[in-house]
Amino acid sequence: MTVGNVLITEDEIQDRIRLLAAEITKDYESRDLLLVGILKGAVMLMADLARAIELPMDMDFMAVSSYGAATQTSGVVRIIKDLERDIEGRDVLIVEDIIDSGLTLNYLLKSLSMRKPASIEVCSLLVKEGLQRAAVSCKYPGFIIPPDFVVGYGLDYLGLYRNLPYITVMNEEEIAAV
Ligand code: IMP
Ligand code: MG
Repeated sequence: MTVGNVLITEDEIQDRIRLLAAEITKDYESRDLLLVGILKGAVMLMADLARAIELPMDMDFMAVSSYGAATQTSGVVRIIKDLERDIEGRDVLIVEDIIDSGLTLNYLLKSLSMRKPASIEVCSLLVKEGLQRAAVSCKYPGFIIPPDFVVGYGLDYLGLYRNLPYITVMNEEEIAAV
């Protein structure tokens, strides 16, 4: 059974991740790479990307709240789970599911920069086209997508659909039916 209108297939996601990982492998050779996955949306990307990067690396996770139960961002970001270790002097690569308004990442970049990492960059599977309310530079974007609400491959609606291996657009009836 397929949910919604598939926007990006499983094969397309996996092909793109292999390309991103090859770029990251080239860029981070001989550096101290720390992947920071943002829970829960980035778990799928974190697992697939990490396995495709051919370098020694470390992984850590943060959890932030941005949306609550709504489909529109509130602009309020709160750290629910912080990193386990210090990032001073390390090459941090934030792994995110999607950049919508950019407010979540903008906040994270500001707050992690204060901890003096050697470098900090962003890899986001999806970047929504349109007006980002906060300018964030994403060095490793997966796909640029229209400003529709999508689920799958880590992205949820009310906690559902994260396990779909593809990215799909939910129509309003489907959203209302949950
Ligand atoms: P931003 O702060 O508006 O950039 O929102 C980022 C966060 O909102 C992401 O990490 C997602 O958890 C959530 N989000 C934004 N757009 C979508 C969507 O289309 N589907 C599911 N979650 C989304
Ligand atoms: Mg979410």
